[in-house]
Amino acid sequence: MAAAGSAVGLGNIWKFPYEVGKGGGAAFLFMYLAFCFILCFPVLVAEISIGRKTQKNAIGAFRALGFPKWSIIGRMGVASGVLILSFYNIVAGWAFGYFVEMIMGNFAISDQFGDFIGLKGINAIKVVGYSLIFMVSTTVIVSKGISGGIERAARTLMPMLVLIIVTLILYSLTLPNAMKGIEFYLVPDFTKINFEVVYTALSHAFFSLSLGMGALITYGSYVSKTDNILSSAAYITLADIGIAFIAGLMIFPFVFSQNIDPQAGAGLVFVTLPKVFATLGPLWGPAIGGLFFLLLSFAALTSTVSLLEVPVSYVVDEHKISRKKAVWLTSGFIFLVGIPSLLSQGASETFTSFISYGASDKAKDFLTLVEDVAINTILPLGGVLITIFTAYVWKTKNLTEEISFGNPNYEGSMVMKFLNFALTIICPIILSGLFVLIMLSKFVGIELF
Ligand code: PHE
Repeated sequence: MAAAGSAVGLGNIWKFPYEVGKGGGAAFLFMYLAFCFILCFPVLVAEISIGRKTQKNAIGAFRALGFPKWSIIGRMGVASGVLILSFYNIVAGWAFGYFVEMIMGNFAISDQFGDFIGLKGINAIKVVGYSLIFMVSTTVIVSKGISGGIERAARTLMPMLVLIIVTLILYSLTLPNAMKGIEFYLVPDFTKINFEVVYTALSHAFFSLSLGMGALITYGSYVSKTDNILSSAAYITLADIGIAFIAGLMIFPFVFSQNIDPQAGAGLVFVTLPKVFATLGPLWGPAIGGLFFLLLSFAALTSTVSLLEVPVSYVVDEHKISRKKAVWLTSGFIFLVGIPSLLSQGASETFTSFISYGASDKAKDFLTLVEDVAINTILPLGGVLITIFTAYVWKTKNLTEEISFGNPNYEGSMVMKFLNFALTIICPIILSGLFVLIMLSKFVGIELF
């Protein structure tokens, strides 16, 4: 449940719809689904198994298995945890801020989204305040170790989130042009697939499933020997894909009925939804709008907790300081790392047009750079290394032995054959091939396809 909480977050409801929008609609959706099942599911099973086998965090786990050099995977995970959380916390702050604005009936924020994230005027205090509140909440939860509470909250809040999304889908279908949105989302136009769509779908699949940085190694260490890893992994994958899928089903009819450009990017959800809530009237608008963004904030919180856990367990392990101290120091540090990203959405010219690389000479903002390094580089690289480690260093026979606890019929089954084949052949080849191509195209600007 906690791992599903980690997987389901802003990735599903904020990032997924806008990546679909930018990637040409259904073509992106299908690539993403294929990657989740074929390439990510095996990595997910491997991460949880390594965690349960060693009962350690992302770095300690590789040492405990007797391969200390491979703890580089954990170290990269720590770096990406710091980087991802540094901007994730800001977007979570926007979501939390929207909760406040919605209950106050401020639907006009839709048109002022640029000012809001650009920290214009009073927004500066608001946005900084919201992201501080968010970081402090995450820190308190991780420091008190009340992950049991998070798990219980996820158990009730996730179904509520699903319910509200489904209700909004039904409403969206009554609006003009809704079907155009559904068509964009579900009817693939494969001419829209280019290499950028392929790798964005791949790195998004990793990000959305919280994979490639050892977060699920840490969570796996809490799984008991009698639990069935495969069914947990299947549950996590289906919950994650399911919620992303319905989020898309909710957004695109709204986008098309409001004549918004689906390629609008990171603001898509924040610009579209308040306009929808505004149409629900003075009572239901604030109520449904507020509840939606509150639930989204909780979904983000179950993800930030897992993001903070990875660097914290590293600091506790390596520096032998108390957990409480480690948690506050780490989160304080991450908040500081996030400041350039916070300023990069219009507030500071330097960070907004920060650097240009790759094929386009348009300067990218700092937040995009951080995303490119953490999500588009470290996560897929971590994924390749985990499959290579599992298949060729730790060996699939040990993986099979671990999965068999809690699943006695696993050995010799079709699933075992698929997983071993995927981890030994499909994932290392496809992931490393794609990774090299991603690097060439992202940073060097060479597109081979
Ligand atoms: N999976 C989370 C989301 O979709 C983000 C995340 C990535 C959390 C990596 C932990 C580790 O929002």
